[in-house]
Amino acid sequence: MVEKNLDEIFDPVAISSELTYGTWRRQNGWKPLLFTKAYGPYFEDNNGHRYLDFSSQLMCSNLGHGNQRIKESIMEQLNKFEYAQPGYATEIRAKVAVELKSVLPENLVKYFFGSSGTEANEAAIKTVRMFFSSDKKTKIISNYNSYHGSTMGSVSLTGDFRRIAVDTFYSSQGVLHAPPPYCYRCPLGQHYPECNLACANYLDYMIKNEGNVGGVVVEPVTGTNGVIVPPEGYLQRIREITRENDVLLVTDEVMSGWGRTGEWFAVDNWSVKPDILTTAKGITGAYLPLSLMATSRRIADFFENNYFAHGHTYEAHPVPLAAAYAAIREYKDKDLIKHSKNLGKVLKKRLEEIKERHRSVGDVRSIGLFGAVELVKNREIKTPFNNYLDKLKGNPLMTDRVAKYAMEKGVYISTWINHFIIAPPLIITEEELEKGLDVVDESLSVSDKEVL
Ligand SMILES: Cc1ncc(COP(=O)(O)O)c(C=O)c1O
Repeated sequence: MVEKNLDEIFDPVAISSELTYGTWRRQNGWKPLLFTKAYGPYFEDNNGHRYLDFSSQLMCSNLGHGNQRIKESIMEQLNKFEYAQPGYATEIRAKVAVELKSVLPENLVKYFFGSSGTEANEAAIKTVRMFFSSDKKTKIISNYNSYHGSTMGSVSLTGDFRRIAVDTFYSSQGVLHAPPPYCYRCPLGQHYPECNLACANYLDYMIKNEGNVGGVVVEPVTGTNGVIVPPEGYLQRIREITRENDVLLVTDEVMSGWGRTGEWFAVDNWSVKPDILTTAKGITGAYLPLSLMATSRRIADFFENNYFAHGHTYEAHPVPLAAAYAAIREYKDKDLIKHSKNLGKVLKKRLEEIKERHRSVGDVRSIGLFGAVELVKNREIKTPFNNYLDKLKGNPLMTDRVAKYAMEKGVYISTWINHFIIAPPLIITEEELEKGLDVVDESLSVSDKEVL
């Protein structure tokens, strides 16, 4: 047991796995990498091995590692004061609000800060329900195959197996799930464009038949569950349906925001204006925890004379706000949104080539510097290698075998059940991107050997 050795040798890996929980996994067998150093798009382990961070850790280190300007901004704030209770104004709060106004869809005019994407979505759920409390429009619809957070409210929105893992009557109460725009495996057995956006139209049917729906929450580009870029017209149709039915549209941009898709926010790709937008991760480039719920004028006006029954001790904490301020300035000054769009073309082209070359690749999807490779055992009938029960039980996944090979070659990719995600820091150069993709290409020989 580790405990006996604690005083003798300091073993951070053994201590971390013995005394702290590994998230989203069985604890048994957790042998984490010891992360010791990070700079630019790279990080290192304790053996001095260097890895290209091809998934920006958890799709959050959008500005790469060791950014001097963000570190200085954090220190500058700390040198002034570390904390002020959220009932006070601070200069940094105002500076970040002004920056946000300049980059968010222009209809989003009032902001609430949290510490995680989960918290931002909790705020959104409550905001929808407070907004429609007198009409009793308390139900919320989100999509299957989505992730919106880990606490009871946000996990009830979640459409993937992480909800099933904790599901009880209580965790799902008031939330219904709709078919996602997952064209490669259309849940309605349709084909775009002949489907005429059947999945979006079904939402209209659900809203009308439920009768008391107050909000629809969608990831404009589904993240963890496969970088699912919706077909043209989907988000616009969802916007129309929610408007016609007087339902609030909440877009969860925790992962898809901050240049990831080649625009400031994924909704900008389709010029859709949500009533509420939630985001986190890239807002500080992951230098400190911070999240945001941005709301429209209509919602802001509602709370002028209605009690905003929400808050946290660390709402608008000045230190993460200082990180956000510098991060937004970095996105702007380094023109990283355009860079993401430009390199996105390279990523798309290479992913298509990868699909051509590898029999185990069923589908590739990407937008900006946000891509996924979905593996299959059999291309014709799209047989997946694994299912969510394998993940729950801790069975070996094909994606993990591919990622292990890539890691040995110095490239880190984040995996899910049947796909892995390519989402490097937006500061990556074209040469680094190409090198990382060479390794991904080579790593797929592992899954190719197992096709039927
Ligand atoms: C789309 C989306 N929403 C919400 C969350 C939850 O964010 P957090 O892990 O910061 O609580 C995530 C996390 O990956 C996410 O991708």
